[in-house]
Amino acid sequence: MLRTPSAVRDAERYTAHNYHPLPVVISSAEGSWLTDVDGRRYLDCLAGYSALNFGHRHPELIRAAHEQLDRLTLTSRAFIHDQFADFCRELATLCGKELVLPMNTGAEAVETGIKVARKWGYQVKGVAPGRANIIVAEGNFHGRTTTVVSFSTDEDARADFGPYTPGFTVVPYGDLAALEAAIDGNTVAVLLEPIQGEQGVVLPPEGYLPGVRRVCTERNVLFVADEIQSGLGRTGRTFACDHEGVVPDMYLLGKALGGGIVPVSAVAADADVLGVLKPGQHGSTFGGNPLACAVGTGVVRLLATGEFQRRSAELGERLRAGLEGLLGKGLVAVRVRGLWAGVDIDPALMTGRQACERLMERGVLAKDTHGSTIRLAPPLVITADEIDHAVAQLAAVLAG
Ligand SMILES: Cc1ncc(COP(=O)(O)O)c(C=O)c1O
Repeated sequence: MLRTPSAVRDAERYTAHNYHPLPVVISSAEGSWLTDVDGRRYLDCLAGYSALNFGHRHPELIRAAHEQLDRLTLTSRAFIHDQFADFCRELATLCGKELVLPMNTGAEAVETGIKVARKWGYQVKGVAPGRANIIVAEGNFHGRTTTVVSFSTDEDARADFGPYTPGFTVVPYGDLAALEAAIDGNTVAVLLEPIQGEQGVVLPPEGYLPGVRRVCTERNVLFVADEIQSGLGRTGRTFACDHEGVVPDMYLLGKALGGGIVPVSAVAADADVLGVLKPGQHGSTFGGNPLACAVGTGVVRLLATGEFQRRSAELGERLRAGLEGLLGKGLVAVRVRGLWAGVDIDPALMTGRQACERLMERGVLAKDTHGSTIRLAPPLVITADEIDHAVAQLAAVLAG
């Protein structure tokens, strides 16, 4: 008897319904492949929303985690542990920044970035008390906390969670003139995803990010890049900002930083920015814990080799070619950067959800977002043959 139906039923019964998962119950995984409770195998084309950039159970990360589990797992930041300095130094070096502040989830990194930007605004820029403002983009996704959903433009994410945190101005994504016009003397930061993942892998118009960088510098405003989903190799470079040679004032990192093992996030910036925080003003019991740092250092070392960025860039071209071959054959638009693709299915054919269900039946797991868009973000360890396999399955789904 198959175990999946009852496992799906139990999961539905004992949890809040804040997700609508595909009806598949995973029990083990290795590299790019998942196995369900009934022994069926699936190619992972979501990679935990990019938290699994290095694949499932990457041997070096698992080894780092095991070694750390056997020695020390938690101290709190009340004491310093022996994994902390290496992680912060190596991550700061990867980012080209002076300091790092480790947290746990992506939303916490965003909250940290907002707090730091506001404090910088009051203490360094000289904004009047309580007036700091941050500019964000339409279609943003920065997490689920009450402050972060306050400036979401997605009604599902925002409605009925008010009262909302003030201090944010929303401008259209990709419109530099609108962004520039929104800046005033109280603007402390521009907070952007360099590529809007949740919105369907929406790429910035060429020149937009360099323009944001220039305007922020000219107007004494911090450029905060949320690279939580786009960063750490996903797009074929270490950061999505790298494609146009842009260096933000603050990187927000998460997801892949934890190697798919533990939640690890961080903010990276220079001392003139992150240095505004003093003891007692921000923190987290688990942020920068020994296990997180051991795994995170492993992640940074994998990225320092450049191998994953290279794979992502090269294999991303193969993915692009395959997907563009489906334009007019069920796909109406394809957006690709590295191993990250948003594909829009002809809405007359099926919804993104239906496409993902049919892909699942064919042994490929992906995730829909808004309407008829699906997102493909396989682990960066995926092979060329596996990419061809995923594209072939999508072609078969679209052909009906
Ligand atoms: C760009 C971006 N920022 C922030 C977050 C929030 O991360 P977390 O779910 O770890 O809180 C996400 C999660 O999808 C994201 O994609």
